[in-house]
Amino acid sequence: MQDSSRPVTGYPPIPLLPGAPTSNPRPTFFRRLFVAFAVLLIIFGTILLIFWLVLRPHLPDFSIQSISLSNFNASNQRVNGTWNAQFQVSNPNKKLSIYYGDIVSSVFHKDDFLTETRIGPFVQGTRKVNSVEASYSVVDSFVEGKVVDAMNGERSRGEIKFNIKVVADVAFRYGGWRGRRRLLRVWCDDVALTGSSGKLTGGFKKCSVD
Ligand SMILES: *[C@@H]1O[C@H](CO)[C@@H](O)[C@H](O)[C@H]1NC(C)=O
Ligand SMILES: *[C@@H]1O[C@H](CO)[C@@H](O)[C@H](O)[C@H]1NC(C)=O
Repeated sequence: MQDSSRPVTGYPPIPLLPGAPTSNPRPTFFRRLFVAFAVLLIIFGTILLIFWLVLRPHLPDFSIQSISLSNFNASNQRVNGTWNAQFQVSNPNKKLSIYYGDIVSSVFHKDDFLTETRIGPFVQGTRKVNSVEASYSVVDSFVEGKVVDAMNGERSRGEIKFNIKVVADVAFRYGGWRGRRRLLRVWCDDVALTGSSGKLTGGFKKCSVD
């Protein structure tokens, strides 16, 4: 009876190869485990996706509601002027409020910098629209002769265009949670001002934000 396990043929016993088909129950077990993991992953992913869709931060919208320029005079490489701009800032987020800090706004003629000003920090609630004022002024500030000529040329043709820029540090907030700060850049290009005498005015202009 002890010899019954011996191969009758006389060949050495064939070792079980790793890839050989067997009736081992382990593959089924691993397959079930894999399916369970996949299902968990899909559920978890769906929850994350919903969370992301609900809380996904949308950048605020900026537009210039009105702008005026008084005491403008550019001559002999010098410029004088006082700009007053009113921005409309909207927070489109339903769940996130926005903090704005270190707000700096500047005025350019094409690419040439003219002046800048700082705007106080503020927090904007969900779905809120704020009106933000900025006032800039220059007295006898140096500008290149070609910029003076370009501005006076435009003015004599009826309108001067300025590019207004706003840079701010912003952070989205959800309840007590506060996201990390990011730089917000706003460009309001080709803001046209018209007028005859000392005061030039301009109207609504949508700005681009990134
Ligand atoms: C602008 O300033 C120059 C130099 O100060 C002066 O001669 C000129 O009259 C001024 N122009 C206007 C329109 O005020
Ligand atoms: C700017 O204003 C100052 C002070 O009022 C004046 O002395 C200067 O001539 C003005 N410059 C220009 C370019 O108008």
